[in-house]
Amino acid sequence: MSSHNKSSSLSHQGQVAKLTLSKNGIEQSFEFPILSGTLGPDVLDIRELYTQTGYLTYDPGFTSTASCESAITFVDGEKGLLLHRGYTIQELATHCDFLEVAYLLLYGEIPNQSQKIDFEQNIITHTMLHEQLINFYQGFRRDAHPMAIMVGVVGALSSFYHDSLDLKDPEQRELASYRLIAKMPSIAAMAYKYSVGQPFVYPRNNLRYAENFLHMMFALPSYDYQINKTIAQAINKIFILHADHEQNASTSTVRLAGSSAANPFACIASGIASLWGPAHGGANEAVLNMLKEIGTKDQIPEYLKRAKDRNDSFRLMGFGHRVYKNFDPRAVVLKESCHQVLDALGVKKDPLFDLAMELEKIALQDEYFIEKKLFPNVDFYSGIILQAIGIPVSMFTVLFAVARTVGWVSQWREMIGDPVQKIGRPRQRYIGSMQRPFIALKER
Ligand code: CMC
Repeated sequence: MSSHNKSSSLSHQGQVAKLTLSKNGIEQSFEFPILSGTLGPDVLDIRELYTQTGYLTYDPGFTSTASCESAITFVDGEKGLLLHRGYTIQELATHCDFLEVAYLLLYGEIPNQSQKIDFEQNIITHTMLHEQLINFYQGFRRDAHPMAIMVGVVGALSSFYHDSLDLKDPEQRELASYRLIAKMPSIAAMAYKYSVGQPFVYPRNNLRYAENFLHMMFALPSYDYQINKTIAQAINKIFILHADHEQNASTSTVRLAGSSAANPFACIASGIASLWGPAHGGANEAVLNMLKEIGTKDQIPEYLKRAKDRNDSFRLMGFGHRVYKNFDPRAVVLKESCHQVLDALGVKKDPLFDLAMELEKIALQDEYFIEKKLFPNVDFYSGIILQAIGIPVSMFTVLFAVARTVGWVSQWREMIGDPVQKIGRPRQRYIGSMQRPFIALKER
């Protein structure tokens, strides 16, 4: 492209954008519609770009690309605003139970009393796993990472539920949604139980969603686990704060997988795989591992130096966000909750927590982090809370997956119902070799 004399200019003209391209001295103008959403920046509708101009766009990481229309979640990174169906995350995290937020994400409205009861009933009907599915766990090594088990077992759900795989049938889509939301805590807790060699604990449907998860994690046949209200509330809050976050990597993965009409269980398994990475959901686990590696407060300057060094791949885990460039509203809620949990559990003296608070303080005053707008994100605080509660580090990302399932399912359903939805098929800028003659093996 650079060998030709090409230039371009773009001007807004009401509801169309005029793009002028100059190729080999010949100027041509094209018009593209500008579409407005209810909130957020307008978008340039470039669906006809290639057919009209012969050009593709190049946008690695989709930093300027809206891949879909969505009415579920809105994020304003500059203002630190996160809305689910129009409600702020702060209000939802303060006043709601996780299943109310799940209903809101799925259906667009906060449930009234009877809707709430019906929905909870629909979910608890599906909390148990098929007994044969439980055999799957035996195939994993005891030291397998629980996220590896999650990917496998959730994917395997599609081999059990043939009655909820027809995407064209809304009732089957509904059934698959209930099953996924209901079974995730059971699958997750069993992954933990398997890793520590304890018997699986079946769900108790008289408990709230977060309480039931804690029960399945920590109860034993020889020990009746007592639910601590502060801990259950903190888990409920963590679930709400992680429930959805518009078109992040794992959600986009679910949508892309689903765009080919793959079944919902397989799609959610692909979301779990994407979430696992340390740049995404794996960050809460990475925060704890990093804190352990730093070890003592006097080591912080050395690690900050490394984080700032472009030639060192080390990053301060739990800091920074693709969209939030001011503060992460989820982190603000969790920071408060973090102090409450630690107070209630009396672990304020925990050296790891002291280290985390010192790291937070120093990084927030550091020129590099201020200039690059790198603030503690939700994973910084969730890692500390989960550690205090006694959730093993390897389970941190699993909890994120349990909570995010409702977001993935809501986004998947929205996509299936979208009349403009097509199979996702990005293009590329090819930089490989030109066509060349094949060389026979003996001549190479
Ligand atoms: N520590 C040190 N430097 C950083 C960090 C960090 N945590 N994050 C970004 N930077 C620097 C980066 O090196 C780059 O510097 P330069 O301009 O000199 O090249 C600049 O800040 C911009 O970073 P970027 O990688 O272009 O930003 P991004 O939007 O692609 O990445 C991110 C966002 C979250 C992947 C990144 O900030 C990161 O890796 N953070 C640590 C991992 C983490 O905490 N992830 C959880 C995100 S929140 C939960 C979720 O949504 O999954």
